[in-house]
Amino acid sequence: MKSSKAPQQGRFPDGFLWGAATSAYQVEGSPLADGAGPSIWHRFVRTPGLVRNGDTGDVACDHYRRFKSDVALMKRLGLTAYRFSISWSRVLPAGVGRVNPAGLDFYERLVDELLRAGIEPMVTLYHWDLPAALDDRGGWLNPDAADWFVEYAQTLYRRLDDRVRLWATLNEPWVVTDGGYLHGALAPGHRNFFETPIASHNLLRAHGAAVREYRAGGRHQVGIVVNIEPKYPASDAPEDIAATRRAHAYMNEQYLDPVFLGRYPEEMQQIFGEAWPAWPASDFELIRQPIDFVGVNYYTRSVTRFDPDAWPLRASRVRQNGAVYTETDWEVYPQGLTDTLTWVRDRYGPIPQYVTENGASFADPATAGAEPLDDPDRAQYFHEHLRATYAAIEQGVDVRGYFAWSLFDNLEWSLGFSKRFGIVHVDFKTLKRTLKSSGLSYSKVIQSHGAALNEPA
Ligand code: BGC
Repeated sequence: MKSSKAPQQGRFPDGFLWGAATSAYQVEGSPLADGAGPSIWHRFVRTPGLVRNGDTGDVACDHYRRFKSDVALMKRLGLTAYRFSISWSRVLPAGVGRVNPAGLDFYERLVDELLRAGIEPMVTLYHWDLPAALDDRGGWLNPDAADWFVEYAQTLYRRLDDRVRLWATLNEPWVVTDGGYLHGALAPGHRNFFETPIASHNLLRAHGAAVREYRAGGRHQVGIVVNIEPKYPASDAPEDIAATRRAHAYMNEQYLDPVFLGRYPEEMQQIFGEAWPAWPASDFELIRQPIDFVGVNYYTRSVTRFDPDAWPLRASRVRQNGAVYTETDWEVYPQGLTDTLTWVRDRYGPIPQYVTENGASFADPATAGAEPLDDPDRAQYFHEHLRATYAAIEQGVDVRGYFAWSLFDNLEWSLGFSKRFGIVHVDFKTLKRTLKSSGLSYSKVIQSHGAALNEPA
Protein backbone atom coordinates (compact mmCIF):
# COMPACT_ATOMS: atom_id res chain seq x y z
CA MET A 1 0.00 0.00 0.00
CA LYS A 2 1.34 3.42 -0.92
CA SER A 3 1.60 5.62 2.14
CA SER A 4 0.09 8.56 0.22
CA LYS A 5 -3.15 6.54 0.22
CA ALA A 6 -2.77 5.68 3.89
CA PRO A 7 -5.92 5.42 5.97
CA GLN A 8 -6.84 8.14 8.45
CA GLN A 9 -4.09 8.69 10.95
CA GLY A 10 -4.96 8.08 14.54
CA ARG A 11 -2.99 9.34 17.47
CA PHE A 12 0.62 8.31 17.74
CA PRO A 13 1.40 6.33 20.91
CA ASP A 14 1.55 8.24 24.19
CA GLY A 15 5.05 9.41 24.94
CA PHE A 16 6.03 9.29 21.26
CA LEU A 17 9.05 11.57 20.84
CA TRP A 18 8.83 14.27 18.21
CA GLY A 19 12.36 15.33 17.52
CA ALA A 20 14.93 16.80 15.23
CA ALA A 21 18.55 15.71 14.91
CA THR A 22 21.99 17.21 14.31
CA SER A 23 25.59 16.13 14.79
CA ALA A 24 28.44 17.95 16.48
CA TYR A 25 30.79 18.65 13.59
CA GLN A 26 27.94 19.60 11.27
CA VAL A 27 26.46 22.33 13.47
CA GLU A 28 28.63 23.36 16.40
CA GLY A 29 31.48 25.39 14.92
CA SER A 30 34.39 26.45 17.18
CA PRO A 31 35.99 23.01 16.87
CA LEU A 32 39.11 23.96 18.84
CA ALA A 33 37.51 26.30 21.37
CA ASP A 34 38.13 26.13 25.10
CA GLY A 35 40.76 23.43 25.02
CA ALA A 36 39.20 21.01 22.50
CA GLY A 37 41.47 18.85 20.36
CA PRO A 38 41.16 18.42 16.58
CA SER A 39 39.06 15.64 15.06
CA ILE A 40 39.59 13.78 11.80
CA TRP A 41 37.01 16.07 10.22
CA HIS A 42 38.93 19.15 11.30
CA ARG A 43 41.86 17.70 9.37
CA PHE A 44 39.90 16.37 6.42
CA VAL A 45 38.32 19.73 5.57
CA ARG A 46 41.81 21.27 5.54
CA THR A 47 42.98 19.13 2.64
CA PRO A 48 42.25 21.06 -0.56
CA GLY A 49 39.80 19.39 -2.91
CA LEU A 50 38.15 17.08 -0.41
CA VAL A 51 35.19 19.25 0.57
CA ARG A 52 33.07 21.20 -1.90
CA ASN A 53 33.96 24.91 -2.08
CA GLY A 54 36.58 24.39 0.64
CA ASP A 55 33.82 24.61 3.26
CA THR A 56 34.72 23.77 6.86
CA GLY A 57 33.00 23.26 10.20
CA ASP A 58 34.98 26.12 11.76
CA VAL A 59 31.79 28.16 12.18
CA ALA A 60 29.02 25.91 10.76
CA CYS A 61 25.77 26.95 12.52
CA ASP A 62 27.65 28.30 15.55
CA HIS A 63 25.46 26.09 17.70
CA TYR A 64 28.30 25.91 20.24
CA ARG A 65 27.71 29.57 21.07
CA ARG A 66 24.04 29.89 20.20
CA PHE A 67 22.70 26.74 21.82
CA LYS A 68 20.43 28.64 24.22
CA SER A 69 18.53 30.46 21.52
CA ASP A 70 18.56 27.27 19.45
CA VAL A 71 16.85 25.39 22.27
CA ALA A 72 14.30 28.22 22.46
CA LEU A 73 13.67 27.70 18.75
CA MET A 74 13.15 23.97 19.30
CA LYS A 75 10.64 24.80 21.98
CA ARG A 76 8.86 27.19 19.66
CA LEU A 77 8.54 24.37 17.14
CA GLY A 78 7.06 22.16 19.84
CA LEU A 79 9.80 19.54 19.61
CA THR A 80 9.78 17.10 22.49
CA ALA A 81 13.20 15.60 21.77
CA TYR A 82 16.57 16.65 20.35
CA ARG A 83 19.14 14.19 19.07
CA PHE A 84 22.67 15.55 19.02
CA SER A 85 26.15 14.09 19.14
CA ILE A 86 29.10 14.74 21.38
CA SER A 87 32.43 15.77 19.97
CA TRP A 88 34.82 13.23 21.47
CA SER A 89 37.83 15.54 21.15
CA ARG A 90 36.07 18.39 22.99
CA VAL A 91 35.72 16.11 25.97
CA LEU A 92 39.03 14.22 25.64
CA PRO A 93 41.31 16.35 23.44
CA ALA A 94 43.69 13.45 22.78
CA GLY A 95 40.88 10.88 22.69
CA VAL A 96 41.97 9.25 25.95
CA GLY A 97 43.63 10.50 29.12
CA ARG A 98 43.09 14.08 30.16
CA VAL A 99 39.49 15.31 30.29
CA ASN A 100 38.80 18.85 29.10
CA PRO A 101 36.36 20.23 31.69
CA ALA A 102 35.13 23.04 29.42
CA GLY A 103 34.13 20.51 26.76
CA LEU A 104 32.18 18.42 29.20
CA ASP A 105 30.57 21.56 30.66
CA PHE A 106 29.28 22.56 27.25
CA TYR A 107 27.29 19.35 26.88
CA GLU A 108 26.06 19.57 30.43
CA ARG A 109 24.77 23.11 29.83
CA LEU A 110 23.11 21.97 26.60
CA VAL A 111 21.40 19.05 28.35
CA ASP A 112 20.22 21.27 31.20
CA GLU A 113 18.87 23.84 28.80
CA LEU A 114 16.95 21.14 26.93
CA LEU A 115 15.49 19.70 30.12
CA ARG A 116 14.41 23.17 31.26
CA ALA A 117 12.57 23.50 27.96
CA GLY A 118 10.93 20.09 28.40
CA ILE A 119 12.92 18.55 25.55
CA GLU A 120 14.28 15.02 25.91
CA PRO A 121 17.95 14.73 24.91
CA MET A 122 19.09 11.73 22.87
CA VAL A 123 22.88 11.62 22.86
CA THR A 124 24.92 9.99 20.11
CA LEU A 125 28.44 9.27 21.31
CA TYR A 126 30.05 8.88 17.90
CA HIS A 127 28.88 10.73 14.82
CA TRP A 128 32.05 10.37 12.71
CA ASP A 129 34.44 12.85 14.35
CA LEU A 130 37.19 10.66 15.78
CA PRO A 131 39.86 12.59 17.71
CA ALA A 132 42.78 13.17 15.32
CA ALA A 133 45.19 11.95 18.02
CA LEU A 134 43.51 8.54 17.89
CA ASP A 135 43.66 8.47 14.11
CA ASP A 136 47.40 8.94 14.51
CA ARG A 137 47.35 5.68 16.45
CA GLY A 138 45.51 3.84 13.68
CA GLY A 139 41.97 5.04 14.39
CA TRP A 140 39.32 2.36 13.92
CA LEU A 141 41.95 -0.02 12.55
CA ASN A 142 43.55 -0.27 15.98
CA PRO A 143 41.98 -3.05 18.10
CA ASP A 144 42.45 -0.79 21.14
CA ALA A 145 39.71 1.46 19.73
CA ALA A 146 37.13 -0.43 21.81
CA ASP A 147 38.99 0.49 25.00
CA TRP A 148 39.37 4.12 23.91
CA PHE A 149 35.67 4.30 23.20
CA VAL A 150 34.77 2.85 26.59
CA GLU A 151 36.92 5.41 28.37
CA TYR A 152 35.18 8.18 26.47
CA ALA A 153 31.69 6.71 26.96
CA GLN A 154 32.32 6.24 30.67
CA THR A 155 33.26 9.90 31.01
CA LEU A 156 29.89 10.90 29.55
CA TYR A 157 27.82 8.32 31.38
CA ARG A 158 29.29 9.45 34.71
CA ARG A 159 28.55 13.07 34.07
CA LEU A 160 25.20 12.92 32.29
CA ASP A 161 23.40 9.64 32.90
CA ASP A 162 21.42 11.23 35.73
CA ARG A 163 19.80 13.44 33.07
CA VAL A 164 20.20 11.72 29.70
CA ARG A 165 17.87 8.76 29.26
CA LEU A 166 18.64 7.81 25.68
CA TRP A 167 22.18 6.97 24.60
CA ALA A 168 23.25 5.83 21.15
CA THR A 169 26.76 4.44 20.76
CA LEU A 170 27.47 4.87 17.03
CA ASN A 171 25.83 6.69 14.19
CA GLU A 172 25.83 4.74 10.94
CA PRO A 173 28.92 2.55 11.20
CA TRP A 174 28.32 1.55 7.58
CA VAL A 175 28.92 5.12 6.41
CA VAL A 176 31.98 5.44 8.66
CA THR A 177 33.65 2.50 6.93
CA ASP A 178 32.24 2.64 3.39
CA GLY A 179 32.86 6.39 3.17
CA GLY A 180 35.92 6.65 5.40
CA TYR A 181 37.90 3.48 4.65
CA LEU A 182 36.66 2.01 1.34
CA HIS A 183 35.79 4.87 -1.02
CA GLY A 184 37.53 7.70 0.81
CA ALA A 185 34.85 10.39 0.37
CA LEU A 186 34.63 10.93 4.12
CA ALA A 187 37.25 11.27 6.86
CA PRO A 188 39.78 9.77 7.31
CA GLY A 189 39.67 9.42 3.51
CA HIS A 190 41.26 6.00 3.06
CA ARG A 191 40.64 3.82 0.03
CA ASN A 192 41.56 0.38 1.23
CA PHE A 193 39.60 -2.81 0.66
CA PHE A 194 41.55 -4.70 3.29
CA GLU A 195 41.10 -2.11 6.01
CA THR A 196 37.34 -1.79 5.58
CA PRO A 197 36.16 -4.96 7.36
CA ILE A 198 38.68 -4.36 10.16
CA ALA A 199 37.36 -0.86 10.79
CA SER A 200 33.78 -2.22 10.78
CA HIS A 201 34.64 -4.94 13.22
CA ASN A 202 36.42 -2.59 15.61
CA LEU A 203 33.43 -0.23 15.51
CA LEU A 204 31.20 -3.14 16.47
CA ARG A 205 33.56 -4.16 19.27
CA ALA A 206 33.58 -0.57 20.51
CA HIS A 207 29.78 -0.53 20.44
CA GLY A 208 29.58 -3.79 22.40
CA ALA A 209 32.13 -2.64 24.95
CA ALA A 210 30.32 0.68 25.51
CA VAL A 211 26.99 -1.11 25.98
CA ARG A 212 28.56 -3.54 28.44
CA GLU A 213 30.04 -0.59 30.31
CA TYR A 214 26.63 1.09 30.41
CA ARG A 215 25.08 -2.00 31.99
CA ALA A 216 27.59 -1.74 34.82
CA GLY A 217 26.17 1.56 36.09
CA GLY A 218 23.79 3.14 33.56
CA ARG A 219 20.23 3.69 34.59
CA HIS A 220 18.44 4.25 31.32
CA GLN A 221 18.58 3.08 27.71
CA VAL A 222 21.36 2.46 25.25
CA GLY A 223 21.16 1.52 21.58
CA ILE A 224 22.81 1.90 18.19
CA VAL A 225 21.88 3.97 15.13
CA VAL A 226 22.16 2.41 11.68
CA ASN A 227 21.23 3.60 8.22
CA ILE A 228 18.89 1.23 6.43
CA GLU A 229 18.20 1.52 2.71
CA PRO A 230 15.84 -1.24 1.62
CA LYS A 231 16.92 -2.99 -1.57
CA TYR A 232 14.44 -4.16 -4.15
CA PRO A 233 15.59 -6.27 -7.14
CA ALA A 234 15.27 -4.55 -10.51
CA SER A 235 14.03 -7.79 -12.09
CA ASP A 236 13.46 -11.48 -11.37
CA ALA A 237 16.76 -12.39 -13.01
CA PRO A 238 18.85 -14.49 -10.59
CA GLU A 239 21.87 -12.18 -10.98
CA ASP A 240 19.77 -9.14 -10.00
CA ILE A 241 18.36 -11.00 -7.01
CA ALA A 242 21.85 -12.08 -5.92
CA ALA A 243 23.16 -8.52 -6.35
CA THR A 244 20.27 -7.24 -4.25
CA ARG A 245 21.11 -9.77 -1.53
CA ARG A 246 24.74 -8.64 -1.46
CA ALA A 247 23.84 -4.96 -1.29
CA HIS A 248 21.30 -5.65 1.45
CA ALA A 249 23.72 -7.75 3.52
CA TYR A 250 26.50 -5.19 3.16
CA MET A 251 24.48 -2.12 4.05
CA ASN A 252 21.56 -3.31 6.15
CA GLU A 253 22.66 -6.50 7.91
CA GLN A 254 26.40 -6.05 8.39
CA TYR A 255 25.99 -4.31 11.75
CA LEU A 256 22.64 -5.46 13.10
CA ASP A 257 23.32 -9.17 12.45
CA PRO A 258 26.38 -9.26 14.72
CA VAL A 259 24.60 -7.13 17.36
CA PHE A 260 21.45 -9.29 17.45
CA LEU A 261 22.47 -12.63 16.00
CA GLY A 262 26.16 -12.78 16.90
CA ARG A 263 27.42 -13.36 13.33
CA TYR A 264 27.96 -11.59 10.02
CA PRO A 265 25.74 -12.32 7.04
CA GLU A 266 27.47 -14.90 4.84
CA GLU A 267 27.55 -12.54 1.84
CA MET A 268 30.26 -10.52 3.61
CA GLN A 269 32.79 -13.24 2.86
CA GLN A 270 31.73 -13.32 -0.82
CA ILE A 271 32.04 -9.55 -1.09
CA PHE A 272 35.41 -9.19 0.63
CA GLY A 273 37.02 -12.48 -0.42
CA GLU A 274 40.64 -12.59 0.70
CA ALA A 275 40.17 -9.29 2.56
CA TRP A 276 37.68 -10.90 4.95
CA PRO A 277 39.49 -11.94 8.15
CA ALA A 278 38.66 -14.90 10.38
CA TRP A 279 37.20 -13.31 13.52
CA PRO A 280 37.63 -14.77 17.00
CA ALA A 281 34.34 -16.16 18.35
CA SER A 282 34.85 -14.25 21.60
CA ASP A 283 34.45 -10.96 19.70
CA PHE A 284 30.85 -11.82 18.95
CA GLU A 285 30.12 -12.34 22.63
CA LEU A 286 31.30 -8.79 23.18
CA ILE A 287 29.38 -7.39 20.21
CA ARG A 288 26.14 -9.19 20.98
CA GLN A 289 25.13 -7.21 24.08
CA PRO A 290 21.40 -6.77 24.63
CA ILE A 291 20.41 -3.25 23.62
CA ASP A 292 17.33 -1.21 24.48
CA PHE A 293 16.47 0.25 21.09
CA VAL A 294 17.52 0.50 17.47
CA GLY A 295 17.75 3.90 15.82
CA VAL A 296 16.96 3.76 12.12
CA ASN A 297 18.11 6.44 9.72
CA TYR A 298 16.07 6.28 6.55
CA TYR A 299 16.41 8.49 3.48
CA THR A 300 15.74 6.43 0.36
CA ARG A 301 15.57 2.98 -1.20
CA SER A 302 17.58 1.29 -3.88
CA VAL A 303 16.23 -0.69 -6.82
CA THR A 304 19.24 -2.88 -7.46
CA ARG A 305 20.68 -4.68 -10.48
CA PHE A 306 23.75 -6.77 -11.18
CA ASP A 307 26.59 -4.57 -12.41
CA PRO A 308 29.94 -6.29 -12.99
CA ASP A 309 31.76 -2.93 -13.01
CA ALA A 310 30.52 -1.71 -9.63
CA TRP A 311 33.30 -2.53 -7.20
CA PRO A 312 33.19 -4.31 -4.84
CA LEU A 313 29.50 -5.30 -4.68
CA ARG A 314 28.85 -5.84 -8.38
CA ALA A 315 25.51 -4.17 -7.74
CA SER A 316 24.19 -0.78 -8.67
CA ARG A 317 21.14 1.36 -8.32
CA VAL A 318 18.58 1.72 -11.12
CA ARG A 319 17.05 5.13 -11.64
CA GLN A 320 13.26 5.13 -11.45
CA ASN A 321 11.41 6.91 -14.24
CA GLY A 322 8.83 9.33 -12.99
CA ALA A 323 10.05 9.27 -9.39
CA VAL A 324 10.92 12.43 -7.45
CA TYR A 325 14.63 12.76 -6.62
CA THR A 326 16.16 15.02 -3.98
CA GLU A 327 19.19 17.27 -4.46
CA THR A 328 21.44 14.45 -3.26
CA ASP A 329 19.87 12.33 -6.01
CA TRP A 330 17.96 10.08 -3.64
CA GLU A 331 14.58 8.77 -4.75
CA VAL A 332 11.68 9.85 -2.54
CA TYR A 333 10.06 6.58 -1.50
CA PRO A 334 8.05 6.76 1.75
CA GLN A 335 6.90 3.15 1.57
CA GLY A 336 10.53 2.20 2.10
CA LEU A 337 10.39 3.60 5.64
CA THR A 338 7.42 1.37 6.52
CA ASP A 339 9.23 -1.56 4.92
CA THR A 340 12.37 -0.76 6.90
CA LEU A 341 10.70 -0.55 10.29
CA THR A 342 8.75 -3.77 9.72
CA TRP A 343 11.88 -5.53 8.39
CA VAL A 344 13.89 -4.66 11.52
CA ARG A 345 11.07 -6.02 13.68
CA ASP A 346 10.65 -9.17 11.58
CA ARG A 347 14.36 -9.99 11.50
CA TYR A 348 15.52 -8.91 14.94
CA GLY A 349 12.40 -9.09 17.07
CA PRO A 350 10.07 -6.64 18.80
CA ILE A 351 12.78 -4.19 19.89
CA PRO A 352 11.75 -0.53 20.39
CA GLN A 353 12.75 1.56 17.38
CA TYR A 354 13.26 5.25 16.78
CA VAL A 355 13.42 6.88 13.38
CA THR A 356 16.59 8.72 14.36
CA GLU A 357 17.00 10.51 11.01
CA ASN A 358 14.76 11.11 8.04
CA GLY A 359 14.83 14.06 5.71
CA ALA A 360 15.60 15.52 2.31
CA SER A 361 17.78 18.05 0.63
CA PHE A 362 15.88 20.29 -1.76
CA ALA A 363 16.94 23.60 -3.23
CA ASP A 364 15.48 26.41 -1.14
CA PRO A 365 14.98 30.04 -2.21
CA ALA A 366 18.43 31.65 -2.23
CA THR A 367 17.74 34.22 0.44
CA ALA A 368 15.48 33.96 3.39
CA GLY A 369 13.07 36.89 3.46
CA ALA A 370 9.92 36.64 5.49
CA GLU A 371 9.27 33.73 7.79
CA PRO A 372 8.45 31.02 6.99
CA LEU A 373 10.69 30.32 4.08
CA ASP A 374 8.67 28.23 1.68
CA ASP A 375 9.97 24.68 1.12
CA PRO A 376 6.94 22.71 -0.10
CA ASP A 377 8.90 19.68 -1.34
CA ARG A 378 10.53 19.12 2.03
CA ALA A 379 7.25 19.67 3.87
CA GLN A 380 5.67 17.03 1.63
CA TYR A 381 8.59 14.66 2.21
CA PHE A 382 8.20 14.84 6.00
CA HIS A 383 4.45 14.50 5.78
CA GLU A 384 4.64 11.34 3.69
CA HIS A 385 7.36 9.79 5.81
CA LEU A 386 5.51 10.50 9.03
CA ARG A 387 2.53 8.74 7.51
CA ALA A 388 4.81 5.86 6.59
CA THR A 389 6.01 5.75 10.20
CA TYR A 390 2.44 5.61 11.39
CA ALA A 391 1.72 2.78 8.96
CA ALA A 392 4.50 0.75 10.62
CA ILE A 393 3.02 1.47 14.05
CA GLU A 394 -0.33 0.22 12.79
CA GLN A 395 1.43 -2.95 11.70
CA GLY A 396 2.53 -3.47 15.27
CA VAL A 397 6.07 -2.07 15.16
CA ASP A 398 7.11 -0.48 18.46
CA VAL A 399 8.19 2.91 17.08
CA ARG A 400 8.83 5.32 19.94
CA GLY A 401 9.87 8.49 18.19
CA TYR A 402 10.79 10.32 15.01
CA PHE A 403 13.66 12.77 14.45
CA ALA A 404 13.67 15.01 11.41
CA TRP A 405 17.06 15.42 9.77
CA SER A 406 17.88 18.09 10.32
CA LEU A 407 16.99 20.84 12.72
CA PHE A 408 19.27 23.14 10.72
CA ASP A 409 20.81 23.48 7.31
CA ASN A 410 24.35 22.44 8.13
CA LEU A 411 27.68 21.15 6.84
CA GLU A 412 26.75 18.19 4.67
CA TRP A 413 30.19 16.59 5.10
CA SER A 414 32.17 16.54 1.86
CA LEU A 415 29.34 18.34 0.06
CA GLY A 416 29.94 21.33 2.33
CA PHE A 417 27.06 23.78 2.70
CA SER A 418 25.79 23.08 -0.82
CA LYS A 419 22.99 20.79 0.35
CA ARG A 420 20.33 21.98 2.75
CA PHE A 421 18.36 19.53 4.89
CA GLY A 422 17.04 21.84 7.63
CA ILE A 423 13.55 22.53 8.89
CA VAL A 424 15.22 25.79 9.90
CA HIS A 425 17.14 27.77 7.30
CA VAL A 426 20.59 29.03 8.27
CA ASP A 427 22.21 31.95 6.47
CA PHE A 428 25.86 30.90 6.62
CA LYS A 429 27.06 34.51 6.37
CA THR A 430 24.94 36.07 9.10
CA LEU A 431 24.04 32.81 10.92
CA LYS A 432 20.47 34.02 11.10
CA ARG A 433 17.90 31.26 11.61
CA THR A 434 14.62 31.36 9.63
CA LEU A 435 11.85 28.82 10.07
CA LYS A 436 10.82 26.95 6.97
CA SER A 437 7.27 25.92 6.16
CA SER A 438 8.38 22.29 6.56
CA GLY A 439 9.22 23.13 10.19
CA LEU A 440 5.85 24.76 10.72
CA SER A 441 3.93 21.91 9.16
CA TYR A 442 5.90 19.42 11.32
CA SER A 443 5.02 21.59 14.29
CA LYS A 444 1.31 21.22 13.47
CA VAL A 445 1.71 17.46 13.28
CA ILE A 446 3.33 17.52 16.71
CA GLN A 447 0.63 19.72 18.24
CA SER A 448 -2.13 17.52 16.87
CA HIS A 449 -0.28 14.34 17.85
CA GLY A 450 -0.44 13.20 14.26
CA ALA A 451 -3.97 14.20 13.28
CA ALA A 452 -2.64 16.95 10.95
CA LEU A 453 -1.27 14.18 8.77
CA ASN A 454 -4.81 13.71 7.49
CA GLU A 455 -4.57 17.15 5.85
CA PRO A 456 -2.14 18.08 3.07
CA ALA A 457 1.30 19.27 4.24
C1 BGC B 1 24.11 11.25 8.48
C2 BGC B 1 24.05 12.75 8.55
C3 BGC B 1 23.94 13.33 7.15
C4 BGC B 1 22.67 12.81 6.53
C5 BGC B 1 22.38 13.33 5.13
C6 BGC B 1 23.20 10.64 7.46
O1 BGC B 1 23.91 9.66 6.76
O2 BGC B 1 23.97 10.67 9.74
O3 BGC B 1 25.16 13.21 9.25
O4 BGC B 1 24.01 14.71 7.12
O5 BGC B 1 22.71 11.42 6.45
O6 BGC B 1 23.34 12.89 4.23
